[in-house]
Amino acid sequence: KKKVILDVDTGIDDALGILLAVRSGEMDVLGITTVNGNVSLHQATLNTCKILQLLQMENEIPVVKGANKPLMRPTFFEHRVHGKDGLGGALKDMPVHTKVLEGHASDFIVEQVRRHQGEVTLVMTAPLTNLALAVMKYPDLIHQVKEVIVMGGVVQGFGNVTPTAEFNMYVDPEAAKIVFQAGFPNLTLVGLDVTRKALLTDDHIQALGDSPIGRYVKESTAEYMQRYYERNGVRACALHDPLAVGVALNKQLVTTHHYYVDVETKSELCDGQTVCDFQNRLSKAANVHVCTEVSADDFLELFIRTLRA
Ligand code: BDR
Ligand code: CA
Repeated sequence: KKKVILDVDTGIDDALGILLAVRSGEMDVLGITTVNGNVSLHQATLNTCKILQLLQMENEIPVVKGANKPLMRPTFFEHRVHGKDGLGGALKDMPVHTKVLEGHASDFIVEQVRRHQGEVTLVMTAPLTNLALAVMKYPDLIHQVKEVIVMGGVVQGFGNVTPTAEFNMYVDPEAAKIVFQAGFPNLTLVGLDVTRKALLTDDHIQALGDSPIGRYVKESTAEYMQRYYERNGVRACALHDPLAVGVALNKQLVTTHHYYVDVETKSELCDGQTVCDFQNRLSKAANVHVCTEVSADDFLELFIRTLRA
């Protein structure tokens, strides 16, 4: 099994990513680290615990809390998209009994990578604060991790917070810059360019059936789909974070190109923009495998099959 750590700010799609990872049976999830993002660190941690309880895996997979704010900026929550609680109101009455592991997420990441050198895949589906802290504390991390998969950014399209910035990049651009410039030999960026094509529809939800997980997915995505409808005229839920998990499971789902990518941190209009040097104008070495295309149908099929199983 693939050893992975999931780093999440559990909102609606992070939760679906956790379900995909755990249910796949192909991942040994060493731990789930939480961070401020869609919701507060506290809420993201509670939501993560609830999802593990839904899976009855709360005694198997440790949850570790990380940064409660971005490196240099105030928090910026996304309640419009994920609802007040981050799960679109689902599981709101579930009592949380999961015990959160002591210590900081960034230290947990370093410890696990050192323990399993060359074997750990980091799947980051939130602002990159925890990983930035981890590489600052332990720069050798870059050579000891197997690979890093980041849901974030957009290289050829428009943002989802500002005209140019995607949420995870926008919330902590300084952290993203540190991660991109750290020198990870194997970092893949799963951005809005591809995640916007991975759309869960009512038909998919119906195909999940009337199981606890099927009912949960239906309830947690209902509001999200409604808002997506108001903006785009179709009912759907973009599976941003699950696609990053999908890429960790199967690289064939996407086409990637190796480019130099950096993140804007000093602009009034463009903070958090991921700038991709397609034509190597800056003469810098490529640092990111950027996803440019996705077999969305194959991914959706994997997602539905795994959650229904
Ligand atoms: C990303 O931002 C968050 O709102 C989602 O959970 C996802 O990680 C999409 O831009
Ligand atoms: Ca997320």
